[in-house]
Amino acid sequence: MNTCPQVRIETASGLMAIMLARPEKKNALTTSMYQALVQALEQASTDPSIRVVLLDGEGGDFCAGNDIADFAAQARSRQALESYDVFRFVRALAVFDKPLVAAVRGRAVGIGTTLLLHCDLVYVAHDARFSTPFVDLALVPEAASSLLLPARIGHVRAFALFALGETLDGAAALACGLANAALPADQVTPRARAAAQVLAAKPALALQATKKLMRDHERMLTVIESEGREFAQRLLSTEAQAMFQAFMSRRGP
Ligand code: COA
Repeated sequence: MNTCPQVRIETASGLMAIMLARPEKKNALTTSMYQALVQALEQASTDPSIRVVLLDGEGGDFCAGNDIADFAAQARSRQALESYDVFRFVRALAVFDKPLVAAVRGRAVGIGTTLLLHCDLVYVAHDARFSTPFVDLALVPEAASSLLLPARIGHVRAFALFALGETLDGAAALACGLANAALPADQVTPRARAAAQVLAAKPALALQATKKLMRDHERMLTVIESEGREFAQRLLSTEAQAMFQAFMSRRGP
């Protein structure tokens, strides 16, 4: 049972809708939110009545990435990589076997963008903003995005997102293959839900087999592992600590 109030889960008519519900922090993801997300994906995978999962964000922004205070705390506690809930989540995403549909308005930062590389249909607002400023935080890409993003949009555009901290808007995301459609903000969730309902009515096993054929799970898990080792090292670096402190002190304790 989901006990995390910042992740809302509704299941009806073959569809599990997962709503990130921490709008006051732009839906930045905490340890307990990752735990709830992993649990939801596991439930969706094993429950035959769930055909499709929809990911959405409450408020004006999809997700501002990993909670930076959590990053700082994890670095202080020097946890082993295996115990990071963010890595459990990205592994669960990489192997998730049913269609994932995303509805994105506003900001999608860091994992807010990289998780979309694991979604099968992505509907975005014209004014959505996608960014993966890992280098600016003295970190490295995660969620197999070092493999998937260049493969999707080309090396130079991916590098500009990772290393220059460039941002894409909805139209640019559509043009470079990150999204199926760019829409007025109020049409994004209805369109994503409608697409999810269409998928929910398709032959389920053929749908799953099609997704499986399109994604190389083993390769993604290998990349996630190497990214994770590097990420855990970067997290401990003095340059990363300085970036986290800078973010947190700009915004008070
Ligand atoms: N971790 C923790 N808190 C976050 C956060 C994050 N990743 N992103 C936003 N917040 C918090 C802010 O600290 C602020 O909290 P406060 O109201 O208690 O001060 C609140 O969410 C609103 O954010 P704010 O920065 O005031 O909104 P904005 O519209 O000016 O900017 C962002 C939005 C997303 C551009 C900006 O918050 C940001 O850059 N966040 C960090 C994104 C990031 O680097 N994520 C990690 C990627 S690996």
